[in-house]
Amino acid sequence: MMKTHAGSWLESCLIFQHVNAWALAPAIEPFATSALIPHDHPAARLSPMHIGHHALANRVFAAPMAGVTDRPFRVLCKRLGAGYAVSEMVTSRPELRDSLKTSRRANHEGEAAPIAVQIAGTDAAMMAEAARYNVARGAQIIDINMGCPAKKVCNKWAGSALMQDEPLAVSIAAAVVEACAPHGVPVTLKMRTGWAAGQRNAPTLARAFEAVGVQMLTVHGRTREQGYSGRAEYDTIAEVKRSVGIPVVANGDIDSPQQAQRVLASTGADAVMIGRAAQGRPWIFREVAHFLATGQLLAPPLVVEVHRLLLDHLQDHYGLYGHHAGVRSARKHVAWYVHGLPGGDALRRDINTIDDADQQWLAVHHYFKELAQEMDRMPAAAVPVANEELGRETIA
Ligand SMILES: Cc1cc2nc3c(=O)[nH]c(=O)nc-3n(C[C@H](O)[C@H](O)[C@H](O)COP(=O)(O)O)c2cc1C
Repeated sequence: MMKTHAGSWLESCLIFQHVNAWALAPAIEPFATSALIPHDHPAARLSPMHIGHHALANRVFAAPMAGVTDRPFRVLCKRLGAGYAVSEMVTSRPELRDSLKTSRRANHEGEAAPIAVQIAGTDAAMMAEAARYNVARGAQIIDINMGCPAKKVCNKWAGSALMQDEPLAVSIAAAVVEACAPHGVPVTLKMRTGWAAGQRNAPTLARAFEAVGVQMLTVHGRTREQGYSGRAEYDTIAEVKRSVGIPVVANGDIDSPQQAQRVLASTGADAVMIGRAAQGRPWIFREVAHFLATGQLLAPPLVVEVHRLLLDHLQDHYGLYGHHAGVRSARKHVAWYVHGLPGGDALRRDINTIDDADQQWLAVHHYFKELAQEMDRMPAAAVPVANEELGRETIA
C-alpha cells in the first residue's frame, strides 16, 4: 500500500519536473528527500489527473477571468506552471459570434493542450449548439459557466443565476454533454456554492450534473449573493466532493502555496484553481505546484526574469489586440505586476497617460532595468491587489 502511494507520488513528481522543469526558479531550501510529503498527506494525491482522456500537467489550475485570462495570459500561466487553464467565457448567442471580442476570446494560437472553452447562456439548445460550434473550432474541453455573478449575465438567467433553477441548469448540462459526446469532448462545469446563504444547493446540483455526464466540477466557495465580498468558505466544497465521484476543483481566495495545501486538505478536492492571486503574479502556479510536490517553497522570481516575461507578455498582448486597443487593455496587467514595488505607483500613473504601445513597452523596460539595480528578487509575500476589475465581468 505504502509502495503504491510512494510510487504514484514519485511518478507524479517526475512528470511534474518533466513538464515544468524549465519553469522552476531555485528553491529557497535545497531539495531534500526528508521534506517529501508523507503518503497520507493530501498532496500525495498528486498523481496525474485527467479530464476525459486529457492528462493534465499538475493539479494547480488558472481560473477563467473575463478580460484577464485571454490567450496571452493563459499561455504565460501554463508556461509558469499552471496545469490547466480555461478560457474567458464566450456567449452562446450565435449573433455575437463574429464580434471582435468573441473572436479574440476564441483565439488559442500557441496554447498548450488541452484547449478548454467556457460557454455561458440560458437556453439548452443554444448552449448545445455553442458547444458544437466551439468543438468544431478546436475546443477539446467544454466548460459551462454557472459561477458568474455579473448582472448582465444574471439578468438573462445565465451564470450563477442558473443555480436558482435546478431543472433548467441540469437540462443545459445534459444538452451540452449530449452535443459533445459524439466528438469525445468532455464537459466540465463551474459554479458557486449556491444563490444565497440559505440556498447552498451546490451538492444537490453536483449529483445531478454528474448523473447527466459532466466530468469535472469547479466550485467557487461563495454564493452568488456574496459577489466577491467576505471570505470563501470551503465546507460546501468539501460536501460537494463527498457527494460525487468525479473530480472536484476548489476555488476562491487561494493566494499562496500554504493556502492551496490547506484548502486541498480541508476539502478533499482533487485540484485547486487560482484567479485573482495570479494577476500580475503568474509564477504563483509554479510556486504552488512545487510546494505541493515537495513541501518546499520556491524563491520568488528574479527581477530580471519578471522583466523579460512581462515584456514578452506585452508583445503577445499587442499581437492579439493590436497596438491601439492593446496599449489600453495592457495597463491593468502592468499595474498588477508593479503593485507594491518601489516606484510602481509612479509607473502606473505614467502608463495610464501613454497611448503608444512602443512607448508603453519602453517605459516598462526602463522601469524594470532600474528595479534590477535595486533588488534581485521580487518580494516574497503576495501583496494584496486592489482589484478594480471585480464584478466587471462581461460576456461576449
Ligand atoms: C475579473 C474577473 C473575471 C471573471 N470572469 C469569469 C469568467 O469569465 N468565468 C467564470 O467562470 N468565472 C469568472 N470569474 C471568477 C473566477 O474564475 C473565480 O471563480 C473567482 O475570482 C474566485 O477565485 P479567486 O479568489 O482565486 O480569484 C472572474 C473573476 C474576476 C475577478
